[in-house]
Amino acid sequence: MTGPESEGSQVRRAVCPGSFDPITNGHLDIIARASRLYDEVYVAVMINKSKKGLFEIEERIELIRQVTAEYANVRVEAFHGLLVDFCKQRDIPAIVKGLRAVSDFDYELQMAQMNNGLTGVETLFVPTNPTYSFLSSSLVKEVAAWGGDVSHLVPAEVLEALNKRLAKG
Ligand code: PNS
Repeated sequence: MTGPESEGSQVRRAVCPGSFDPITNGHLDIIARASRLYDEVYVAVMINKSKKGLFEIEERIELIRQVTAEYANVRVEAFHGLLVDFCKQRDIPAIVKGLRAVSDFDYELQMAQMNNGLTGVETLFVPTNPTYSFLSSSLVKEVAAWGGDVSHLVPAEVLEALNKRLAKG
């Protein structure tokens, strides 16, 4: 096959999904690495109506856009429903996930196998940079809420947003 259709089908796409409430340096490391491996990387921010986050979905997306601005092949979108449907709609064959520790593995393996069984989408695990192996958005929020220093764990834009939000109470 020749022409734009065949060229289009050769674009290597992947998705980095998550809640990103808020994005941390650990997430950013995985996204940056995925952006070097794939032509297009979607950051998919899950809308979970049953769980109110610290940041609204639009705020999370805006923060992710700011901190990934230097990666020209990264785009950020919200999604609800199944991740495999998000992938199918955009012709994305691969999900990229960071693995922090063995404790992440059980659940991630279950999701990877379920997703693969549903549509054939593959999951690629990337070992987290050891600097961030303990890091999660929940811990960042907890430490920041009690006045702890998280400036080395999140991008500057996120730190500012966190401080503003927590100052409001
Ligand atoms: O940052 P998180 O909260 O650990 O991300 C979890 C996420 C969004 C990757 C996962 O919950 C997910 O894929 N949710 C979408 C709903 C779905 O597809 N569920 C079936 C998973 S097998």
